[in-house]
Amino acid sequence: MPDGMAIDYDGLIPNNVGLNADARLRKALETWHPGYIDWWKGCGPVGFQDAEVYLRTAVGVDPEGWARFGFVKMADYRWGILLAPPIEGRRIGFGAHMGEPAWQEVPGEYRAQLRRLLVIQGDTEPASVEQQRHLGATAPSLYDLRNLFQVNVEEGRHLWAMVYLLQKYFGRDGREEAEDLLRRRSGDRDTPRMLGAFNEATPDWLSFFLFTFFTDRDGKMQLAALAQSGFDPLSRTCRFMLTEEAHHMFVGDSGIQRVIQRTCAAMREAGIEDPTDAERVRALGVIDLPTLQRKINLHFTLTLDLFGNEISTNAANAFNAGLKGRYREDKIEDDHRLLDATYPVLRWRNGVIVREDAPALSALNMRLRDDYVAECEHGVARWNRVIAASGVSFRLSLPHVGFNRRIGEFAAAAIAPDGTILAAEEFQARRDSFLPSAADGDYIQSLMVPARAPGEYAAWLAPPRVGIDNKPGDFAYVKIAE
Ligand SMILES: [Fe+2]
Ligand SMILES: [Fe+2]
Repeated sequence: MPDGMAIDYDGLIPNNVGLNADARLRKALETWHPGYIDWWKGCGPVGFQDAEVYLRTAVGVDPEGWARFGFVKMADYRWGILLAPPIEGRRIGFGAHMGEPAWQEVPGEYRAQLRRLLVIQGDTEPASVEQQRHLGATAPSLYDLRNLFQVNVEEGRHLWAMVYLLQKYFGRDGREEAEDLLRRRSGDRDTPRMLGAFNEATPDWLSFFLFTFFTDRDGKMQLAALAQSGFDPLSRTCRFMLTEEAHHMFVGDSGIQRVIQRTCAAMREAGIEDPTDAERVRALGVIDLPTLQRKINLHFTLTLDLFGNEISTNAANAFNAGLKGRYREDKIEDDHRLLDATYPVLRWRNGVIVREDAPALSALNMRLRDDYVAECEHGVARWNRVIAASGVSFRLSLPHVGFNRRIGEFAAAAIAPDGTILAAEEFQARRDSFLPSAADGDYIQSLMVPARAPGEYAAWLAPPRVGIDNKPGDFAYVKIAE
């Protein structure tokens, strides 16, 4: 382990950032900590706060040693501040400062821009915990309950990661922003979270799996772009956060696979050939595939809005400044400045979808979104293989990127999931075949009965292939005091 990377577990805040040697910062974080715990208890998971949960805690940042498993009460979780190891001689990899040594301090001219990036990222972390706070009551198994709480405590740690950067590098403004991160609330009319998808409800476990597949994956893309940052502390923070994000996406990806497995198995047992015969499939107490498709349509498009406008000056400025790169910037072979480059962008022109070349710098949101969509496609292909293997003839797909948008080029367009342009009235008339209806929501809700015996699973969900930390199928991941 390089110098300065040892984890300090003795203080209130486990860290590998030398907190003990920085009295001012330690005091700022210790002052913030009680408010965080209040927030966690008041806005975090409802119930189970006294239950022992089999959680992993980061004890090192090297690939092997960053997860230690053990039973812990959530409020006692050691939310730490952990940075990936420094890269010797790291240089800025893109933009106007390309080739200069990476910044260890905030460059004055970009202070406001950088702070804004940290706050927007930071705001999403507690938001998702708030969105998911009621799910414990209806967990389909102890395994799933544990995974929910693992995601929740790690989103809490991600908030710590951004608050660390704000407090360490932004003085008084940073402290104020850190307070505000605890003040906003997902879905609150007066003080909502900053981004739309993080103010939506996550009312059931199907929504949770789709959220972790689609929306945590947006988180991954944003973190990956920030991991390229010329501001080295941000880069190192994000690199470590990405290791945790992988588990969140696994929860979603495998969760949907298990939904599909269970549905297809139930259909086969009952001899149902037609996957669109929702009434018969639902009579089996499982989620019919067309409903899953409508839920995919919703969560995918809500998440696309998080990428912002296809054409964006902010994105161009952040790249030029060396603050936020492209996905895998360091693997791309070009000049990393993009001054003369172009990038194809889908635009809505006089009621038609056209592809136009735009200056590559202005099109960075579109590019990141394209990288995101490509990853989502892989996930859907995996799900389709599960369906095909079960002998059911149905294919899931991602809707057109112009469908159901609130932000960007297609905000005013009425486009069907298959890309057909519709009149507004026709879109409305067919809405319930595109997006989940209230009745779909009610049906899904009706399935949300908790399963709490070790090894027990709700009827709409197949058990996982392997346990967490290789535990056996009947392992009690959460010890519920009755
Ligand atoms: Fe996160
Ligand atoms: Fe996440």
